Amino acid sequence: MDIEKIRQDFPLFKTDINGKPIVYFDNACQTLRPRTVINAISEYYEKYPACGGRSSHKLANTVTRKCEEARKTIAKFIGAKRKEEIIFTRNTTEGINLIANSLELNRGDIVVTTDKEHNSNLIPWQILAEKKGVIHKIVPSKPDNSFDLEKFKEIMEESRGDVKLTAMVFTSNLDGATIPAKEIIKISHQYGAKVLLDAAQAAPHQKIDADKLDADFMAFSGHKMLGPSGIGILYGKHRLLEKLEPFLTGGDTVEYSTYGGHKFLPPPEKFEAGLQDYAGIIGLGEAIKYLEKIGLKNIAAQEYKLNKFITEEIAEIPRLKIIGPTNPASRGGIISFYIEDVDSHQIALILDETANVMIRSGQHCAHSWFNSRGIKGSARASLYFYNTLDECRVFVQNLKKIIDVLN
Ligand SMILES: Cc1ncc(COP(=O)(O)O)c(C=O)c1O
Repeated sequence: MDIEKIRQDFPLFKTDINGKPIVYFDNACQTLRPRTVINAISEYYEKYPACGGRSSHKLANTVTRKCEEARKTIAKFIGAKRKEEIIFTRNTTEGINLIANSLELNRGDIVVTTDKEHNSNLIPWQILAEKKGVIHKIVPSKPDNSFDLEKFKEIMEESRGDVKLTAMVFTSNLDGATIPAKEIIKISHQYGAKVLLDAAQAAPHQKIDADKLDADFMAFSGHKMLGPSGIGILYGKHRLLEKLEPFLTGGDTVEYSTYGGHKFLPPPEKFEAGLQDYAGIIGLGEAIKYLEKIGLKNIAAQEYKLNKFITEEIAEIPRLKIIGPTNPASRGGIISFYIEDVDSHQIALILDETANVMIRSGQHCAHSWFNSRGIKGSARASLYFYNTLDECRVFVQNLKKIIDVLN
C-alpha cells in the first residue's frame, strides 16, 4: 500500500491548523472521506437532487438507480446473498433499535450481551426489560477483557432455550477486541436464539462474510467506513426480514393503503420509511468501492503495524494501563489507555491544543463498563489505514511530554 498516495485522496490531509498538520486518530468515531465520496455527494445535489423510489422522471430514475447500485455494492461487500437484505438506516443505533422494536420479545424472553456494549446495544434492551419484562443477561469478560466463551455457554445452558437473542458488539469500540462471532452464532442457533451483531467497529476493519458467518442481523455505520455522516446499514436474513414488523412506518413502506388498512411492501422497502438520505446512500456506495480497492487485509495489516508501534512505545510510561488484550494484534486499530489520577480529557485536550493530535477521551458510550470497574475514563487513539508511523511518533512524543507534566 502506498500510504502517501492514498493520503492524497483525502482533502483533510492538505489542510493544517496553526501551521501544523492534523493527526486524526479518532477514526472509531468517524473516519475521513476520500474525494470520490465527497464528489458523489456533490454530484447528487448538483445533478439529480430528486426523490428515489417514488417519482419516475429522469432525475428521480437516476436517484433510484444509483441507490440500488449502492445497495448491491454493499451487499456484495459483506457477503449478503441478495441486495434486499440491506436496509438503509441513519446509523448502527437505528439498526439495533429497529431489531429491538420489531422482534417479538415478550416477558421472560432473554437477551444476552457482553459486558462491554456501547450504549446503542445496551439501552434498547434495558428499555425492553423495563417495559416488557424481557430479561437481559450479561456475559462477563475474562480478566484481559476478551470474550469468555465458556461463560457464554454456561448462560445459554442455564437459560434452557429462553434466550431469544444474542446481541453483541462484534469489535469493541472500548478496546478493539473482536469476539469469536462464528462460534457464538453457532452456539446461539443450537439453543434457538437469533443473533444480532453490532458491527460498527468490525465492518470497516475486517472482511465480513454474512452468509458464511450466519449472523441473523448486523448493524453498522457508513460514517465509520469513509461514508457520509448519518448513513447506516442493517443487514438481515431475507426470510427473517420478511416476517419482521417494521419499526418506523409511513411513506414508501406500503404497496397500498385504504382508510381501513394497508399492505406493506417486501423488505427492504417496508423498513425504509419516509424520504431517504439519497446523497448519503450514494456516497456510502462510493466509500465501499474505495475500501474494496484498498482491501481489508491491507487495512488490518496497516492498523496492526501502527498499533504495535504505539503499544510498544507507551508500554514504558509508568502507571499507564492499556484496556483490553496486551497484544496489539487483538486490538485492531484501537489503543485505549488510562493513568490513575490523570484526567483523560486533559490528555486529549492538550494533545489537540499543542500538536493537533485528535483522539477521544471519556467513557466512549460504554459507561457501564467503566462504572462497574470504578475507572473514570480513558484516552482512546483509533487508527485507520491512512494513518502513518510518522503520525504515531508525533502522538507518542507529545503524549510522553504531557504525561510528564500532568503526573
Ligand atoms: C461498537 C459501537 N456500536 C455502536 C456505535 C454507535 O454508532 P452510531 O453512533 O453510528 O449509531 C458505535 C459508535 O461509536 C460503536 O463504536
